[in-house]
Amino acid sequence: MSPAGVPDRWRSVLPHLAEPLPPDHTPQTASGSGVQVNLPMELVRQSVRPKEFWDIPAEVVDAYRAFRPTPLWRAKGFERAVGARVPVYVKYEGGNISGSHKLNTALAQAYYYARAGVKELVSGTGAGQWGTALAAACALFGMKCTVFMVGNSLRRKPYRGTLMRTLGATVHASPTTLTEVAKQAEAGVNSLSLAIGEAVEYASRTEGAAFCIGSGETYSILHQSVIGLEAADQLAALDAEFDAVVGCVGAGSNFGGIALPFFASAAEAGTEPPLLVAAESSTTPKLTRGTYAYDRTDATGTGPMEAMYTIGSSYPIPDSHSAGLRFHGAAKVLSAMRHRDEIAATAVGQVQALDAGRLFTRGEMVLPAPESGHALAAAASLAGGGAEGSNGLLRAEKGVVVCVSGHGYLDLGAYQQLLDGELTDEAPDPQALRLAMGGLDPVDGARQLTGAGAGHGR
Ligand SMILES: Cc1ncc(COP(=O)(O)O)c(C=O)c1O
Repeated sequence: MSPAGVPDRWRSVLPHLAEPLPPDHTPQTASGSGVQVNLPMELVRQSVRPKEFWDIPAEVVDAYRAFRPTPLWRAKGFERAVGARVPVYVKYEGGNISGSHKLNTALAQAYYYARAGVKELVSGTGAGQWGTALAAACALFGMKCTVFMVGNSLRRKPYRGTLMRTLGATVHASPTTLTEVAKQAEAGVNSLSLAIGEAVEYASRTEGAAFCIGSGETYSILHQSVIGLEAADQLAALDAEFDAVVGCVGAGSNFGGIALPFFASAAEAGTEPPLLVAAESSTTPKLTRGTYAYDRTDATGTGPMEAMYTIGSSYPIPDSHSAGLRFHGAAKVLSAMRHRDEIAATAVGQVQALDAGRLFTRGEMVLPAPESGHALAAAASLAGGGAEGSNGLLRAEKGVVVCVSGHGYLDLGAYQQLLDGELTDEAPDPQALRLAMGGLDPVDGARQLTGAGAGHGR
């Protein structure tokens, strides 16, 4: 830790995994050559090297100082509202310009890409938090920024686009007419996978540009370790007792960020780690109802096939207010850990998530993002009667630590629907799930779930 309490090293979980992550499968192009990914070398190293501590570049620590350490407190008002049996501690990542934890990795990535000579960063964004974080990081490190945002989400939250543009970014509503992948997509498709696919294609034919991604990659989970490292110190200072750590999961960066440093330090000390609970959306139940298989990370299918818990990249994900959770797969690190039951998962519907967000707002005077509402709903269940999880009933006996990954000021439309009684949940169609997972290659030795109906997703 630096004197101000801002971490000056990231902590990796890779040295503590029982076995190396399954290698990616790289598809062959028509010309027979695999697709080249232009990642700065340091990000490549951070993805594969089982080194525990990584120095954070001084420029990135300086940038972190503007908003870190982020607050951690005991949420007594929320505890009362949900009838918690044990304390709930909140780590809040919404108090920066981007409004979420995404800035932790955006700053690191912009720094490494700028040093590698890249002039423009291009990406896809669902809820807009990642795009906003990237726009902010590019502004800080003097780079251009182009963002493809899921169109439905941008229309629902136009001020996200305005904020990105204020920060200097160019924003496109995906699907656009700018890319082949969008032209070839089925009419009406509006997904993060397609927005990412558009960004990949656009970056590959734009001079000086690179595609970068905010979640799921092993290096972005490493960058997010600042959340868990700070939380561990803050909890120790409070003498807090806890036995469960919760975060919501899109691909897994805020959950990985808060949870994995606790796993690493328990492994180092030879003690039992807390119960690490991934709260996913019941519309994208990869960790509770998915299969461990090789799947693609975006709609272009040009990137490597990664070993992940997935509901199938072709699954038509129903619309929901938690655009940041609308991703078909989980990060490969988390998937490998889920496969060994080192992390657990529970699925939460958006009505339950926003209701937890409402109670949190009244109890704590902080308005959480709908995505974070999923973590809060899971935390409330763990601290109360228990949550139905991937491996049975999940319950905390001492206390729960929960990451509130972002604020919900640009998501008030979702709260409005909740308060007006207009919010509903769309359960996944078992047949469509089965179809989307059907053709996937299982990871060797995978203990397969049978898809729809398997696991304990709600
Ligand atoms: C506020 C917020 N929380 C959570 C997520 C999910 O992403 P991840 O799983 O990478 O933390 C997002 C993604 O956009 C987000 O904006």
